[in-house]
Amino acid sequence: MKHIPVILFGAGGVGRALLRQIIDTRDLVASRNRCRFDVVCVLDSRSWLWQPAGLGDDQLLQIIYAKEAGQRIGGRRPDGLQVLDQLPEAGLERCLVADVTAAVGMEPVINKALEAGYGVVLANKKPLTGPWEDAKHYFAHPSLRYESTVGGGQPVISTLRYLRDTGDQIFGIEGQLSGTLGYICSQLDRGIDFSQALADAKALGYTEPDPREDLGGQDVKRKILILGRMAGWPLEDEEIEVESLYHPSLSHLSVDEFMQAAVAMDPSIRDRVRVANADGKVLRYLAAVNEQGGSVGLKGVRQGNPLADLKYISFRTRRYEDEPLMIGGKGAGVAMTAGGVLGDMIGLAREVWKLLQL
Ligand SMILES: NC(=O)c1ccc[n+]([C@@H]2O[C@H](COP(=O)([O-])OP(=O)(O)OC[C@H]3O[C@@H](n4cnc5c(N)ncnc54)[C@H](OP(=O)(O)O)[C@@H]3O)[C@@H](O)[C@H]2O)c1
Repeated sequence: MKHIPVILFGAGGVGRALLRQIIDTRDLVASRNRCRFDVVCVLDSRSWLWQPAGLGDDQLLQIIYAKEAGQRIGGRRPDGLQVLDQLPEAGLERCLVADVTAAVGMEPVINKALEAGYGVVLANKKPLTGPWEDAKHYFAHPSLRYESTVGGGQPVISTLRYLRDTGDQIFGIEGQLSGTLGYICSQLDRGIDFSQALADAKALGYTEPDPREDLGGQDVKRKILILGRMAGWPLEDEEIEVESLYHPSLSHLSVDEFMQAAVAMDPSIRDRVRVANADGKVLRYLAAVNEQGGSVGLKGVRQGNPLADLKYISFRTRRYEDEPLMIGGKGAGVAMTAGGVLGDMIGLAREVWKLLQL
C-alpha cells in the first residue's frame, strides 16, 4: 500500500466535503488503487494543523466540526512556502497539494510543489486564469489537475483533455456554467421577476453571501477562459466579454440595500424575457469561447435547444462539427466538487505515479 501525504489548503465547503470523502472512501481507494491518502496538513486562511505521520480520521472530523462551528483549525499557520519546506525535513516525498481555496496569490506555492515533483490538484480557478505567460505551464503540466474548476464533478476538463490528446480540433465551446444563474433563469421562465428570483436563490443558499459575486459573471468568465485555454487558445482575461447582471452604480451598496435595489432591474429583464419568448426563445446566462475570444451574458436560446435545458456544455469540434458533443448533469455543489478533486488525486496517483506497478 502506497501512502501519499496530502497537504490541503482550504477548509471551506469543498475542503470539508473532501475530508469527509477521503475518510469515507479509505477502503475503496485502498482496494481499487492500493493507496492511502495521509492528510498531513490542513490550512485555512489563518490557522493549521500539521502532523507528519498523517492526521487521524478523528482529527480530520474535529477539523470539519470546528470549521462548521466557525472556529479555527489549530494554531497560527506559517506561510505556504514554509509549509512546503517542512515536508522534506519531515521525510515526506511524493506529496499531493490540493488548493481548494478561492485565494489569489497561490502560484508560488503551486510552482514550488510542482518543482518538488509533487502532484497538485486545484478547485481554485484563479491560478489558471492569471496572465497567460504565468499560467501557461499549468495547462501543460502532467502533475497538475483541475477537473472541478469547471462543471463541478462533471467530466468537462477530462473530456476536453481527451479530445485534444487524440488530435481532435476544437472550434467552439458553449455552456451554462453557473448553477446560481441557471436557477435564476429557470425562475424567469416561470414568469417570476428577477429580484424575486434572486431573493429566492439567496434564501435557498444558492448564491454567494454577496450575490453580486454571482451576478457579476467573473466566476463564469474564469471557467470559460480555462476551457478556451485548454482548447489551445492563449486567451487573456480581457478577451472574454462579460455582461454583468447589475449596474456598477450598485457596487457600493450593502448586501441588503442591493437586494432591495434589484427591483429596479425587473422591468428591463422582463422586457428581455418577453422579446426572447416572442421569438420562441428563453433567456440563458451563456458562456461561449472560440479562437477569437469569448463572451458571457444573457442570450436568447431557442426552446428545445439542449442549451435551453440549463445543464449542458457543448463542444463543437472537427469530429463533432455537425452534432456537438454535449456533457450534462448536475454539476454544482460542494460534494460534486470535492468528488472531482478526489478523482484528480486518484488520477494522479494512478496515472502519473503508476502506483499500481509499485
Ligand atoms: N462551492 C462549490 O460548489 C464550488 C464548485 C466549484 C468550484 N468551487 C471552487 O472551490 C473553491 C472552494 O470553494 P468553497 O465553496 O469551499 O469556498 P469557501 O467555503 O469560501 O472556503 C474557502 C476556504 O479557503 C480558505 N482559505 C482562504 N485563503 C487561504 C489561503 N491563502 N490558504 C489556505 N486556505 C485559505 C478559507 O479559510 P477561512 O475558513 O479561514 O476563511 C476557507 O476555509 C473555490 O475556488 C470555488 O470557486 C466551489
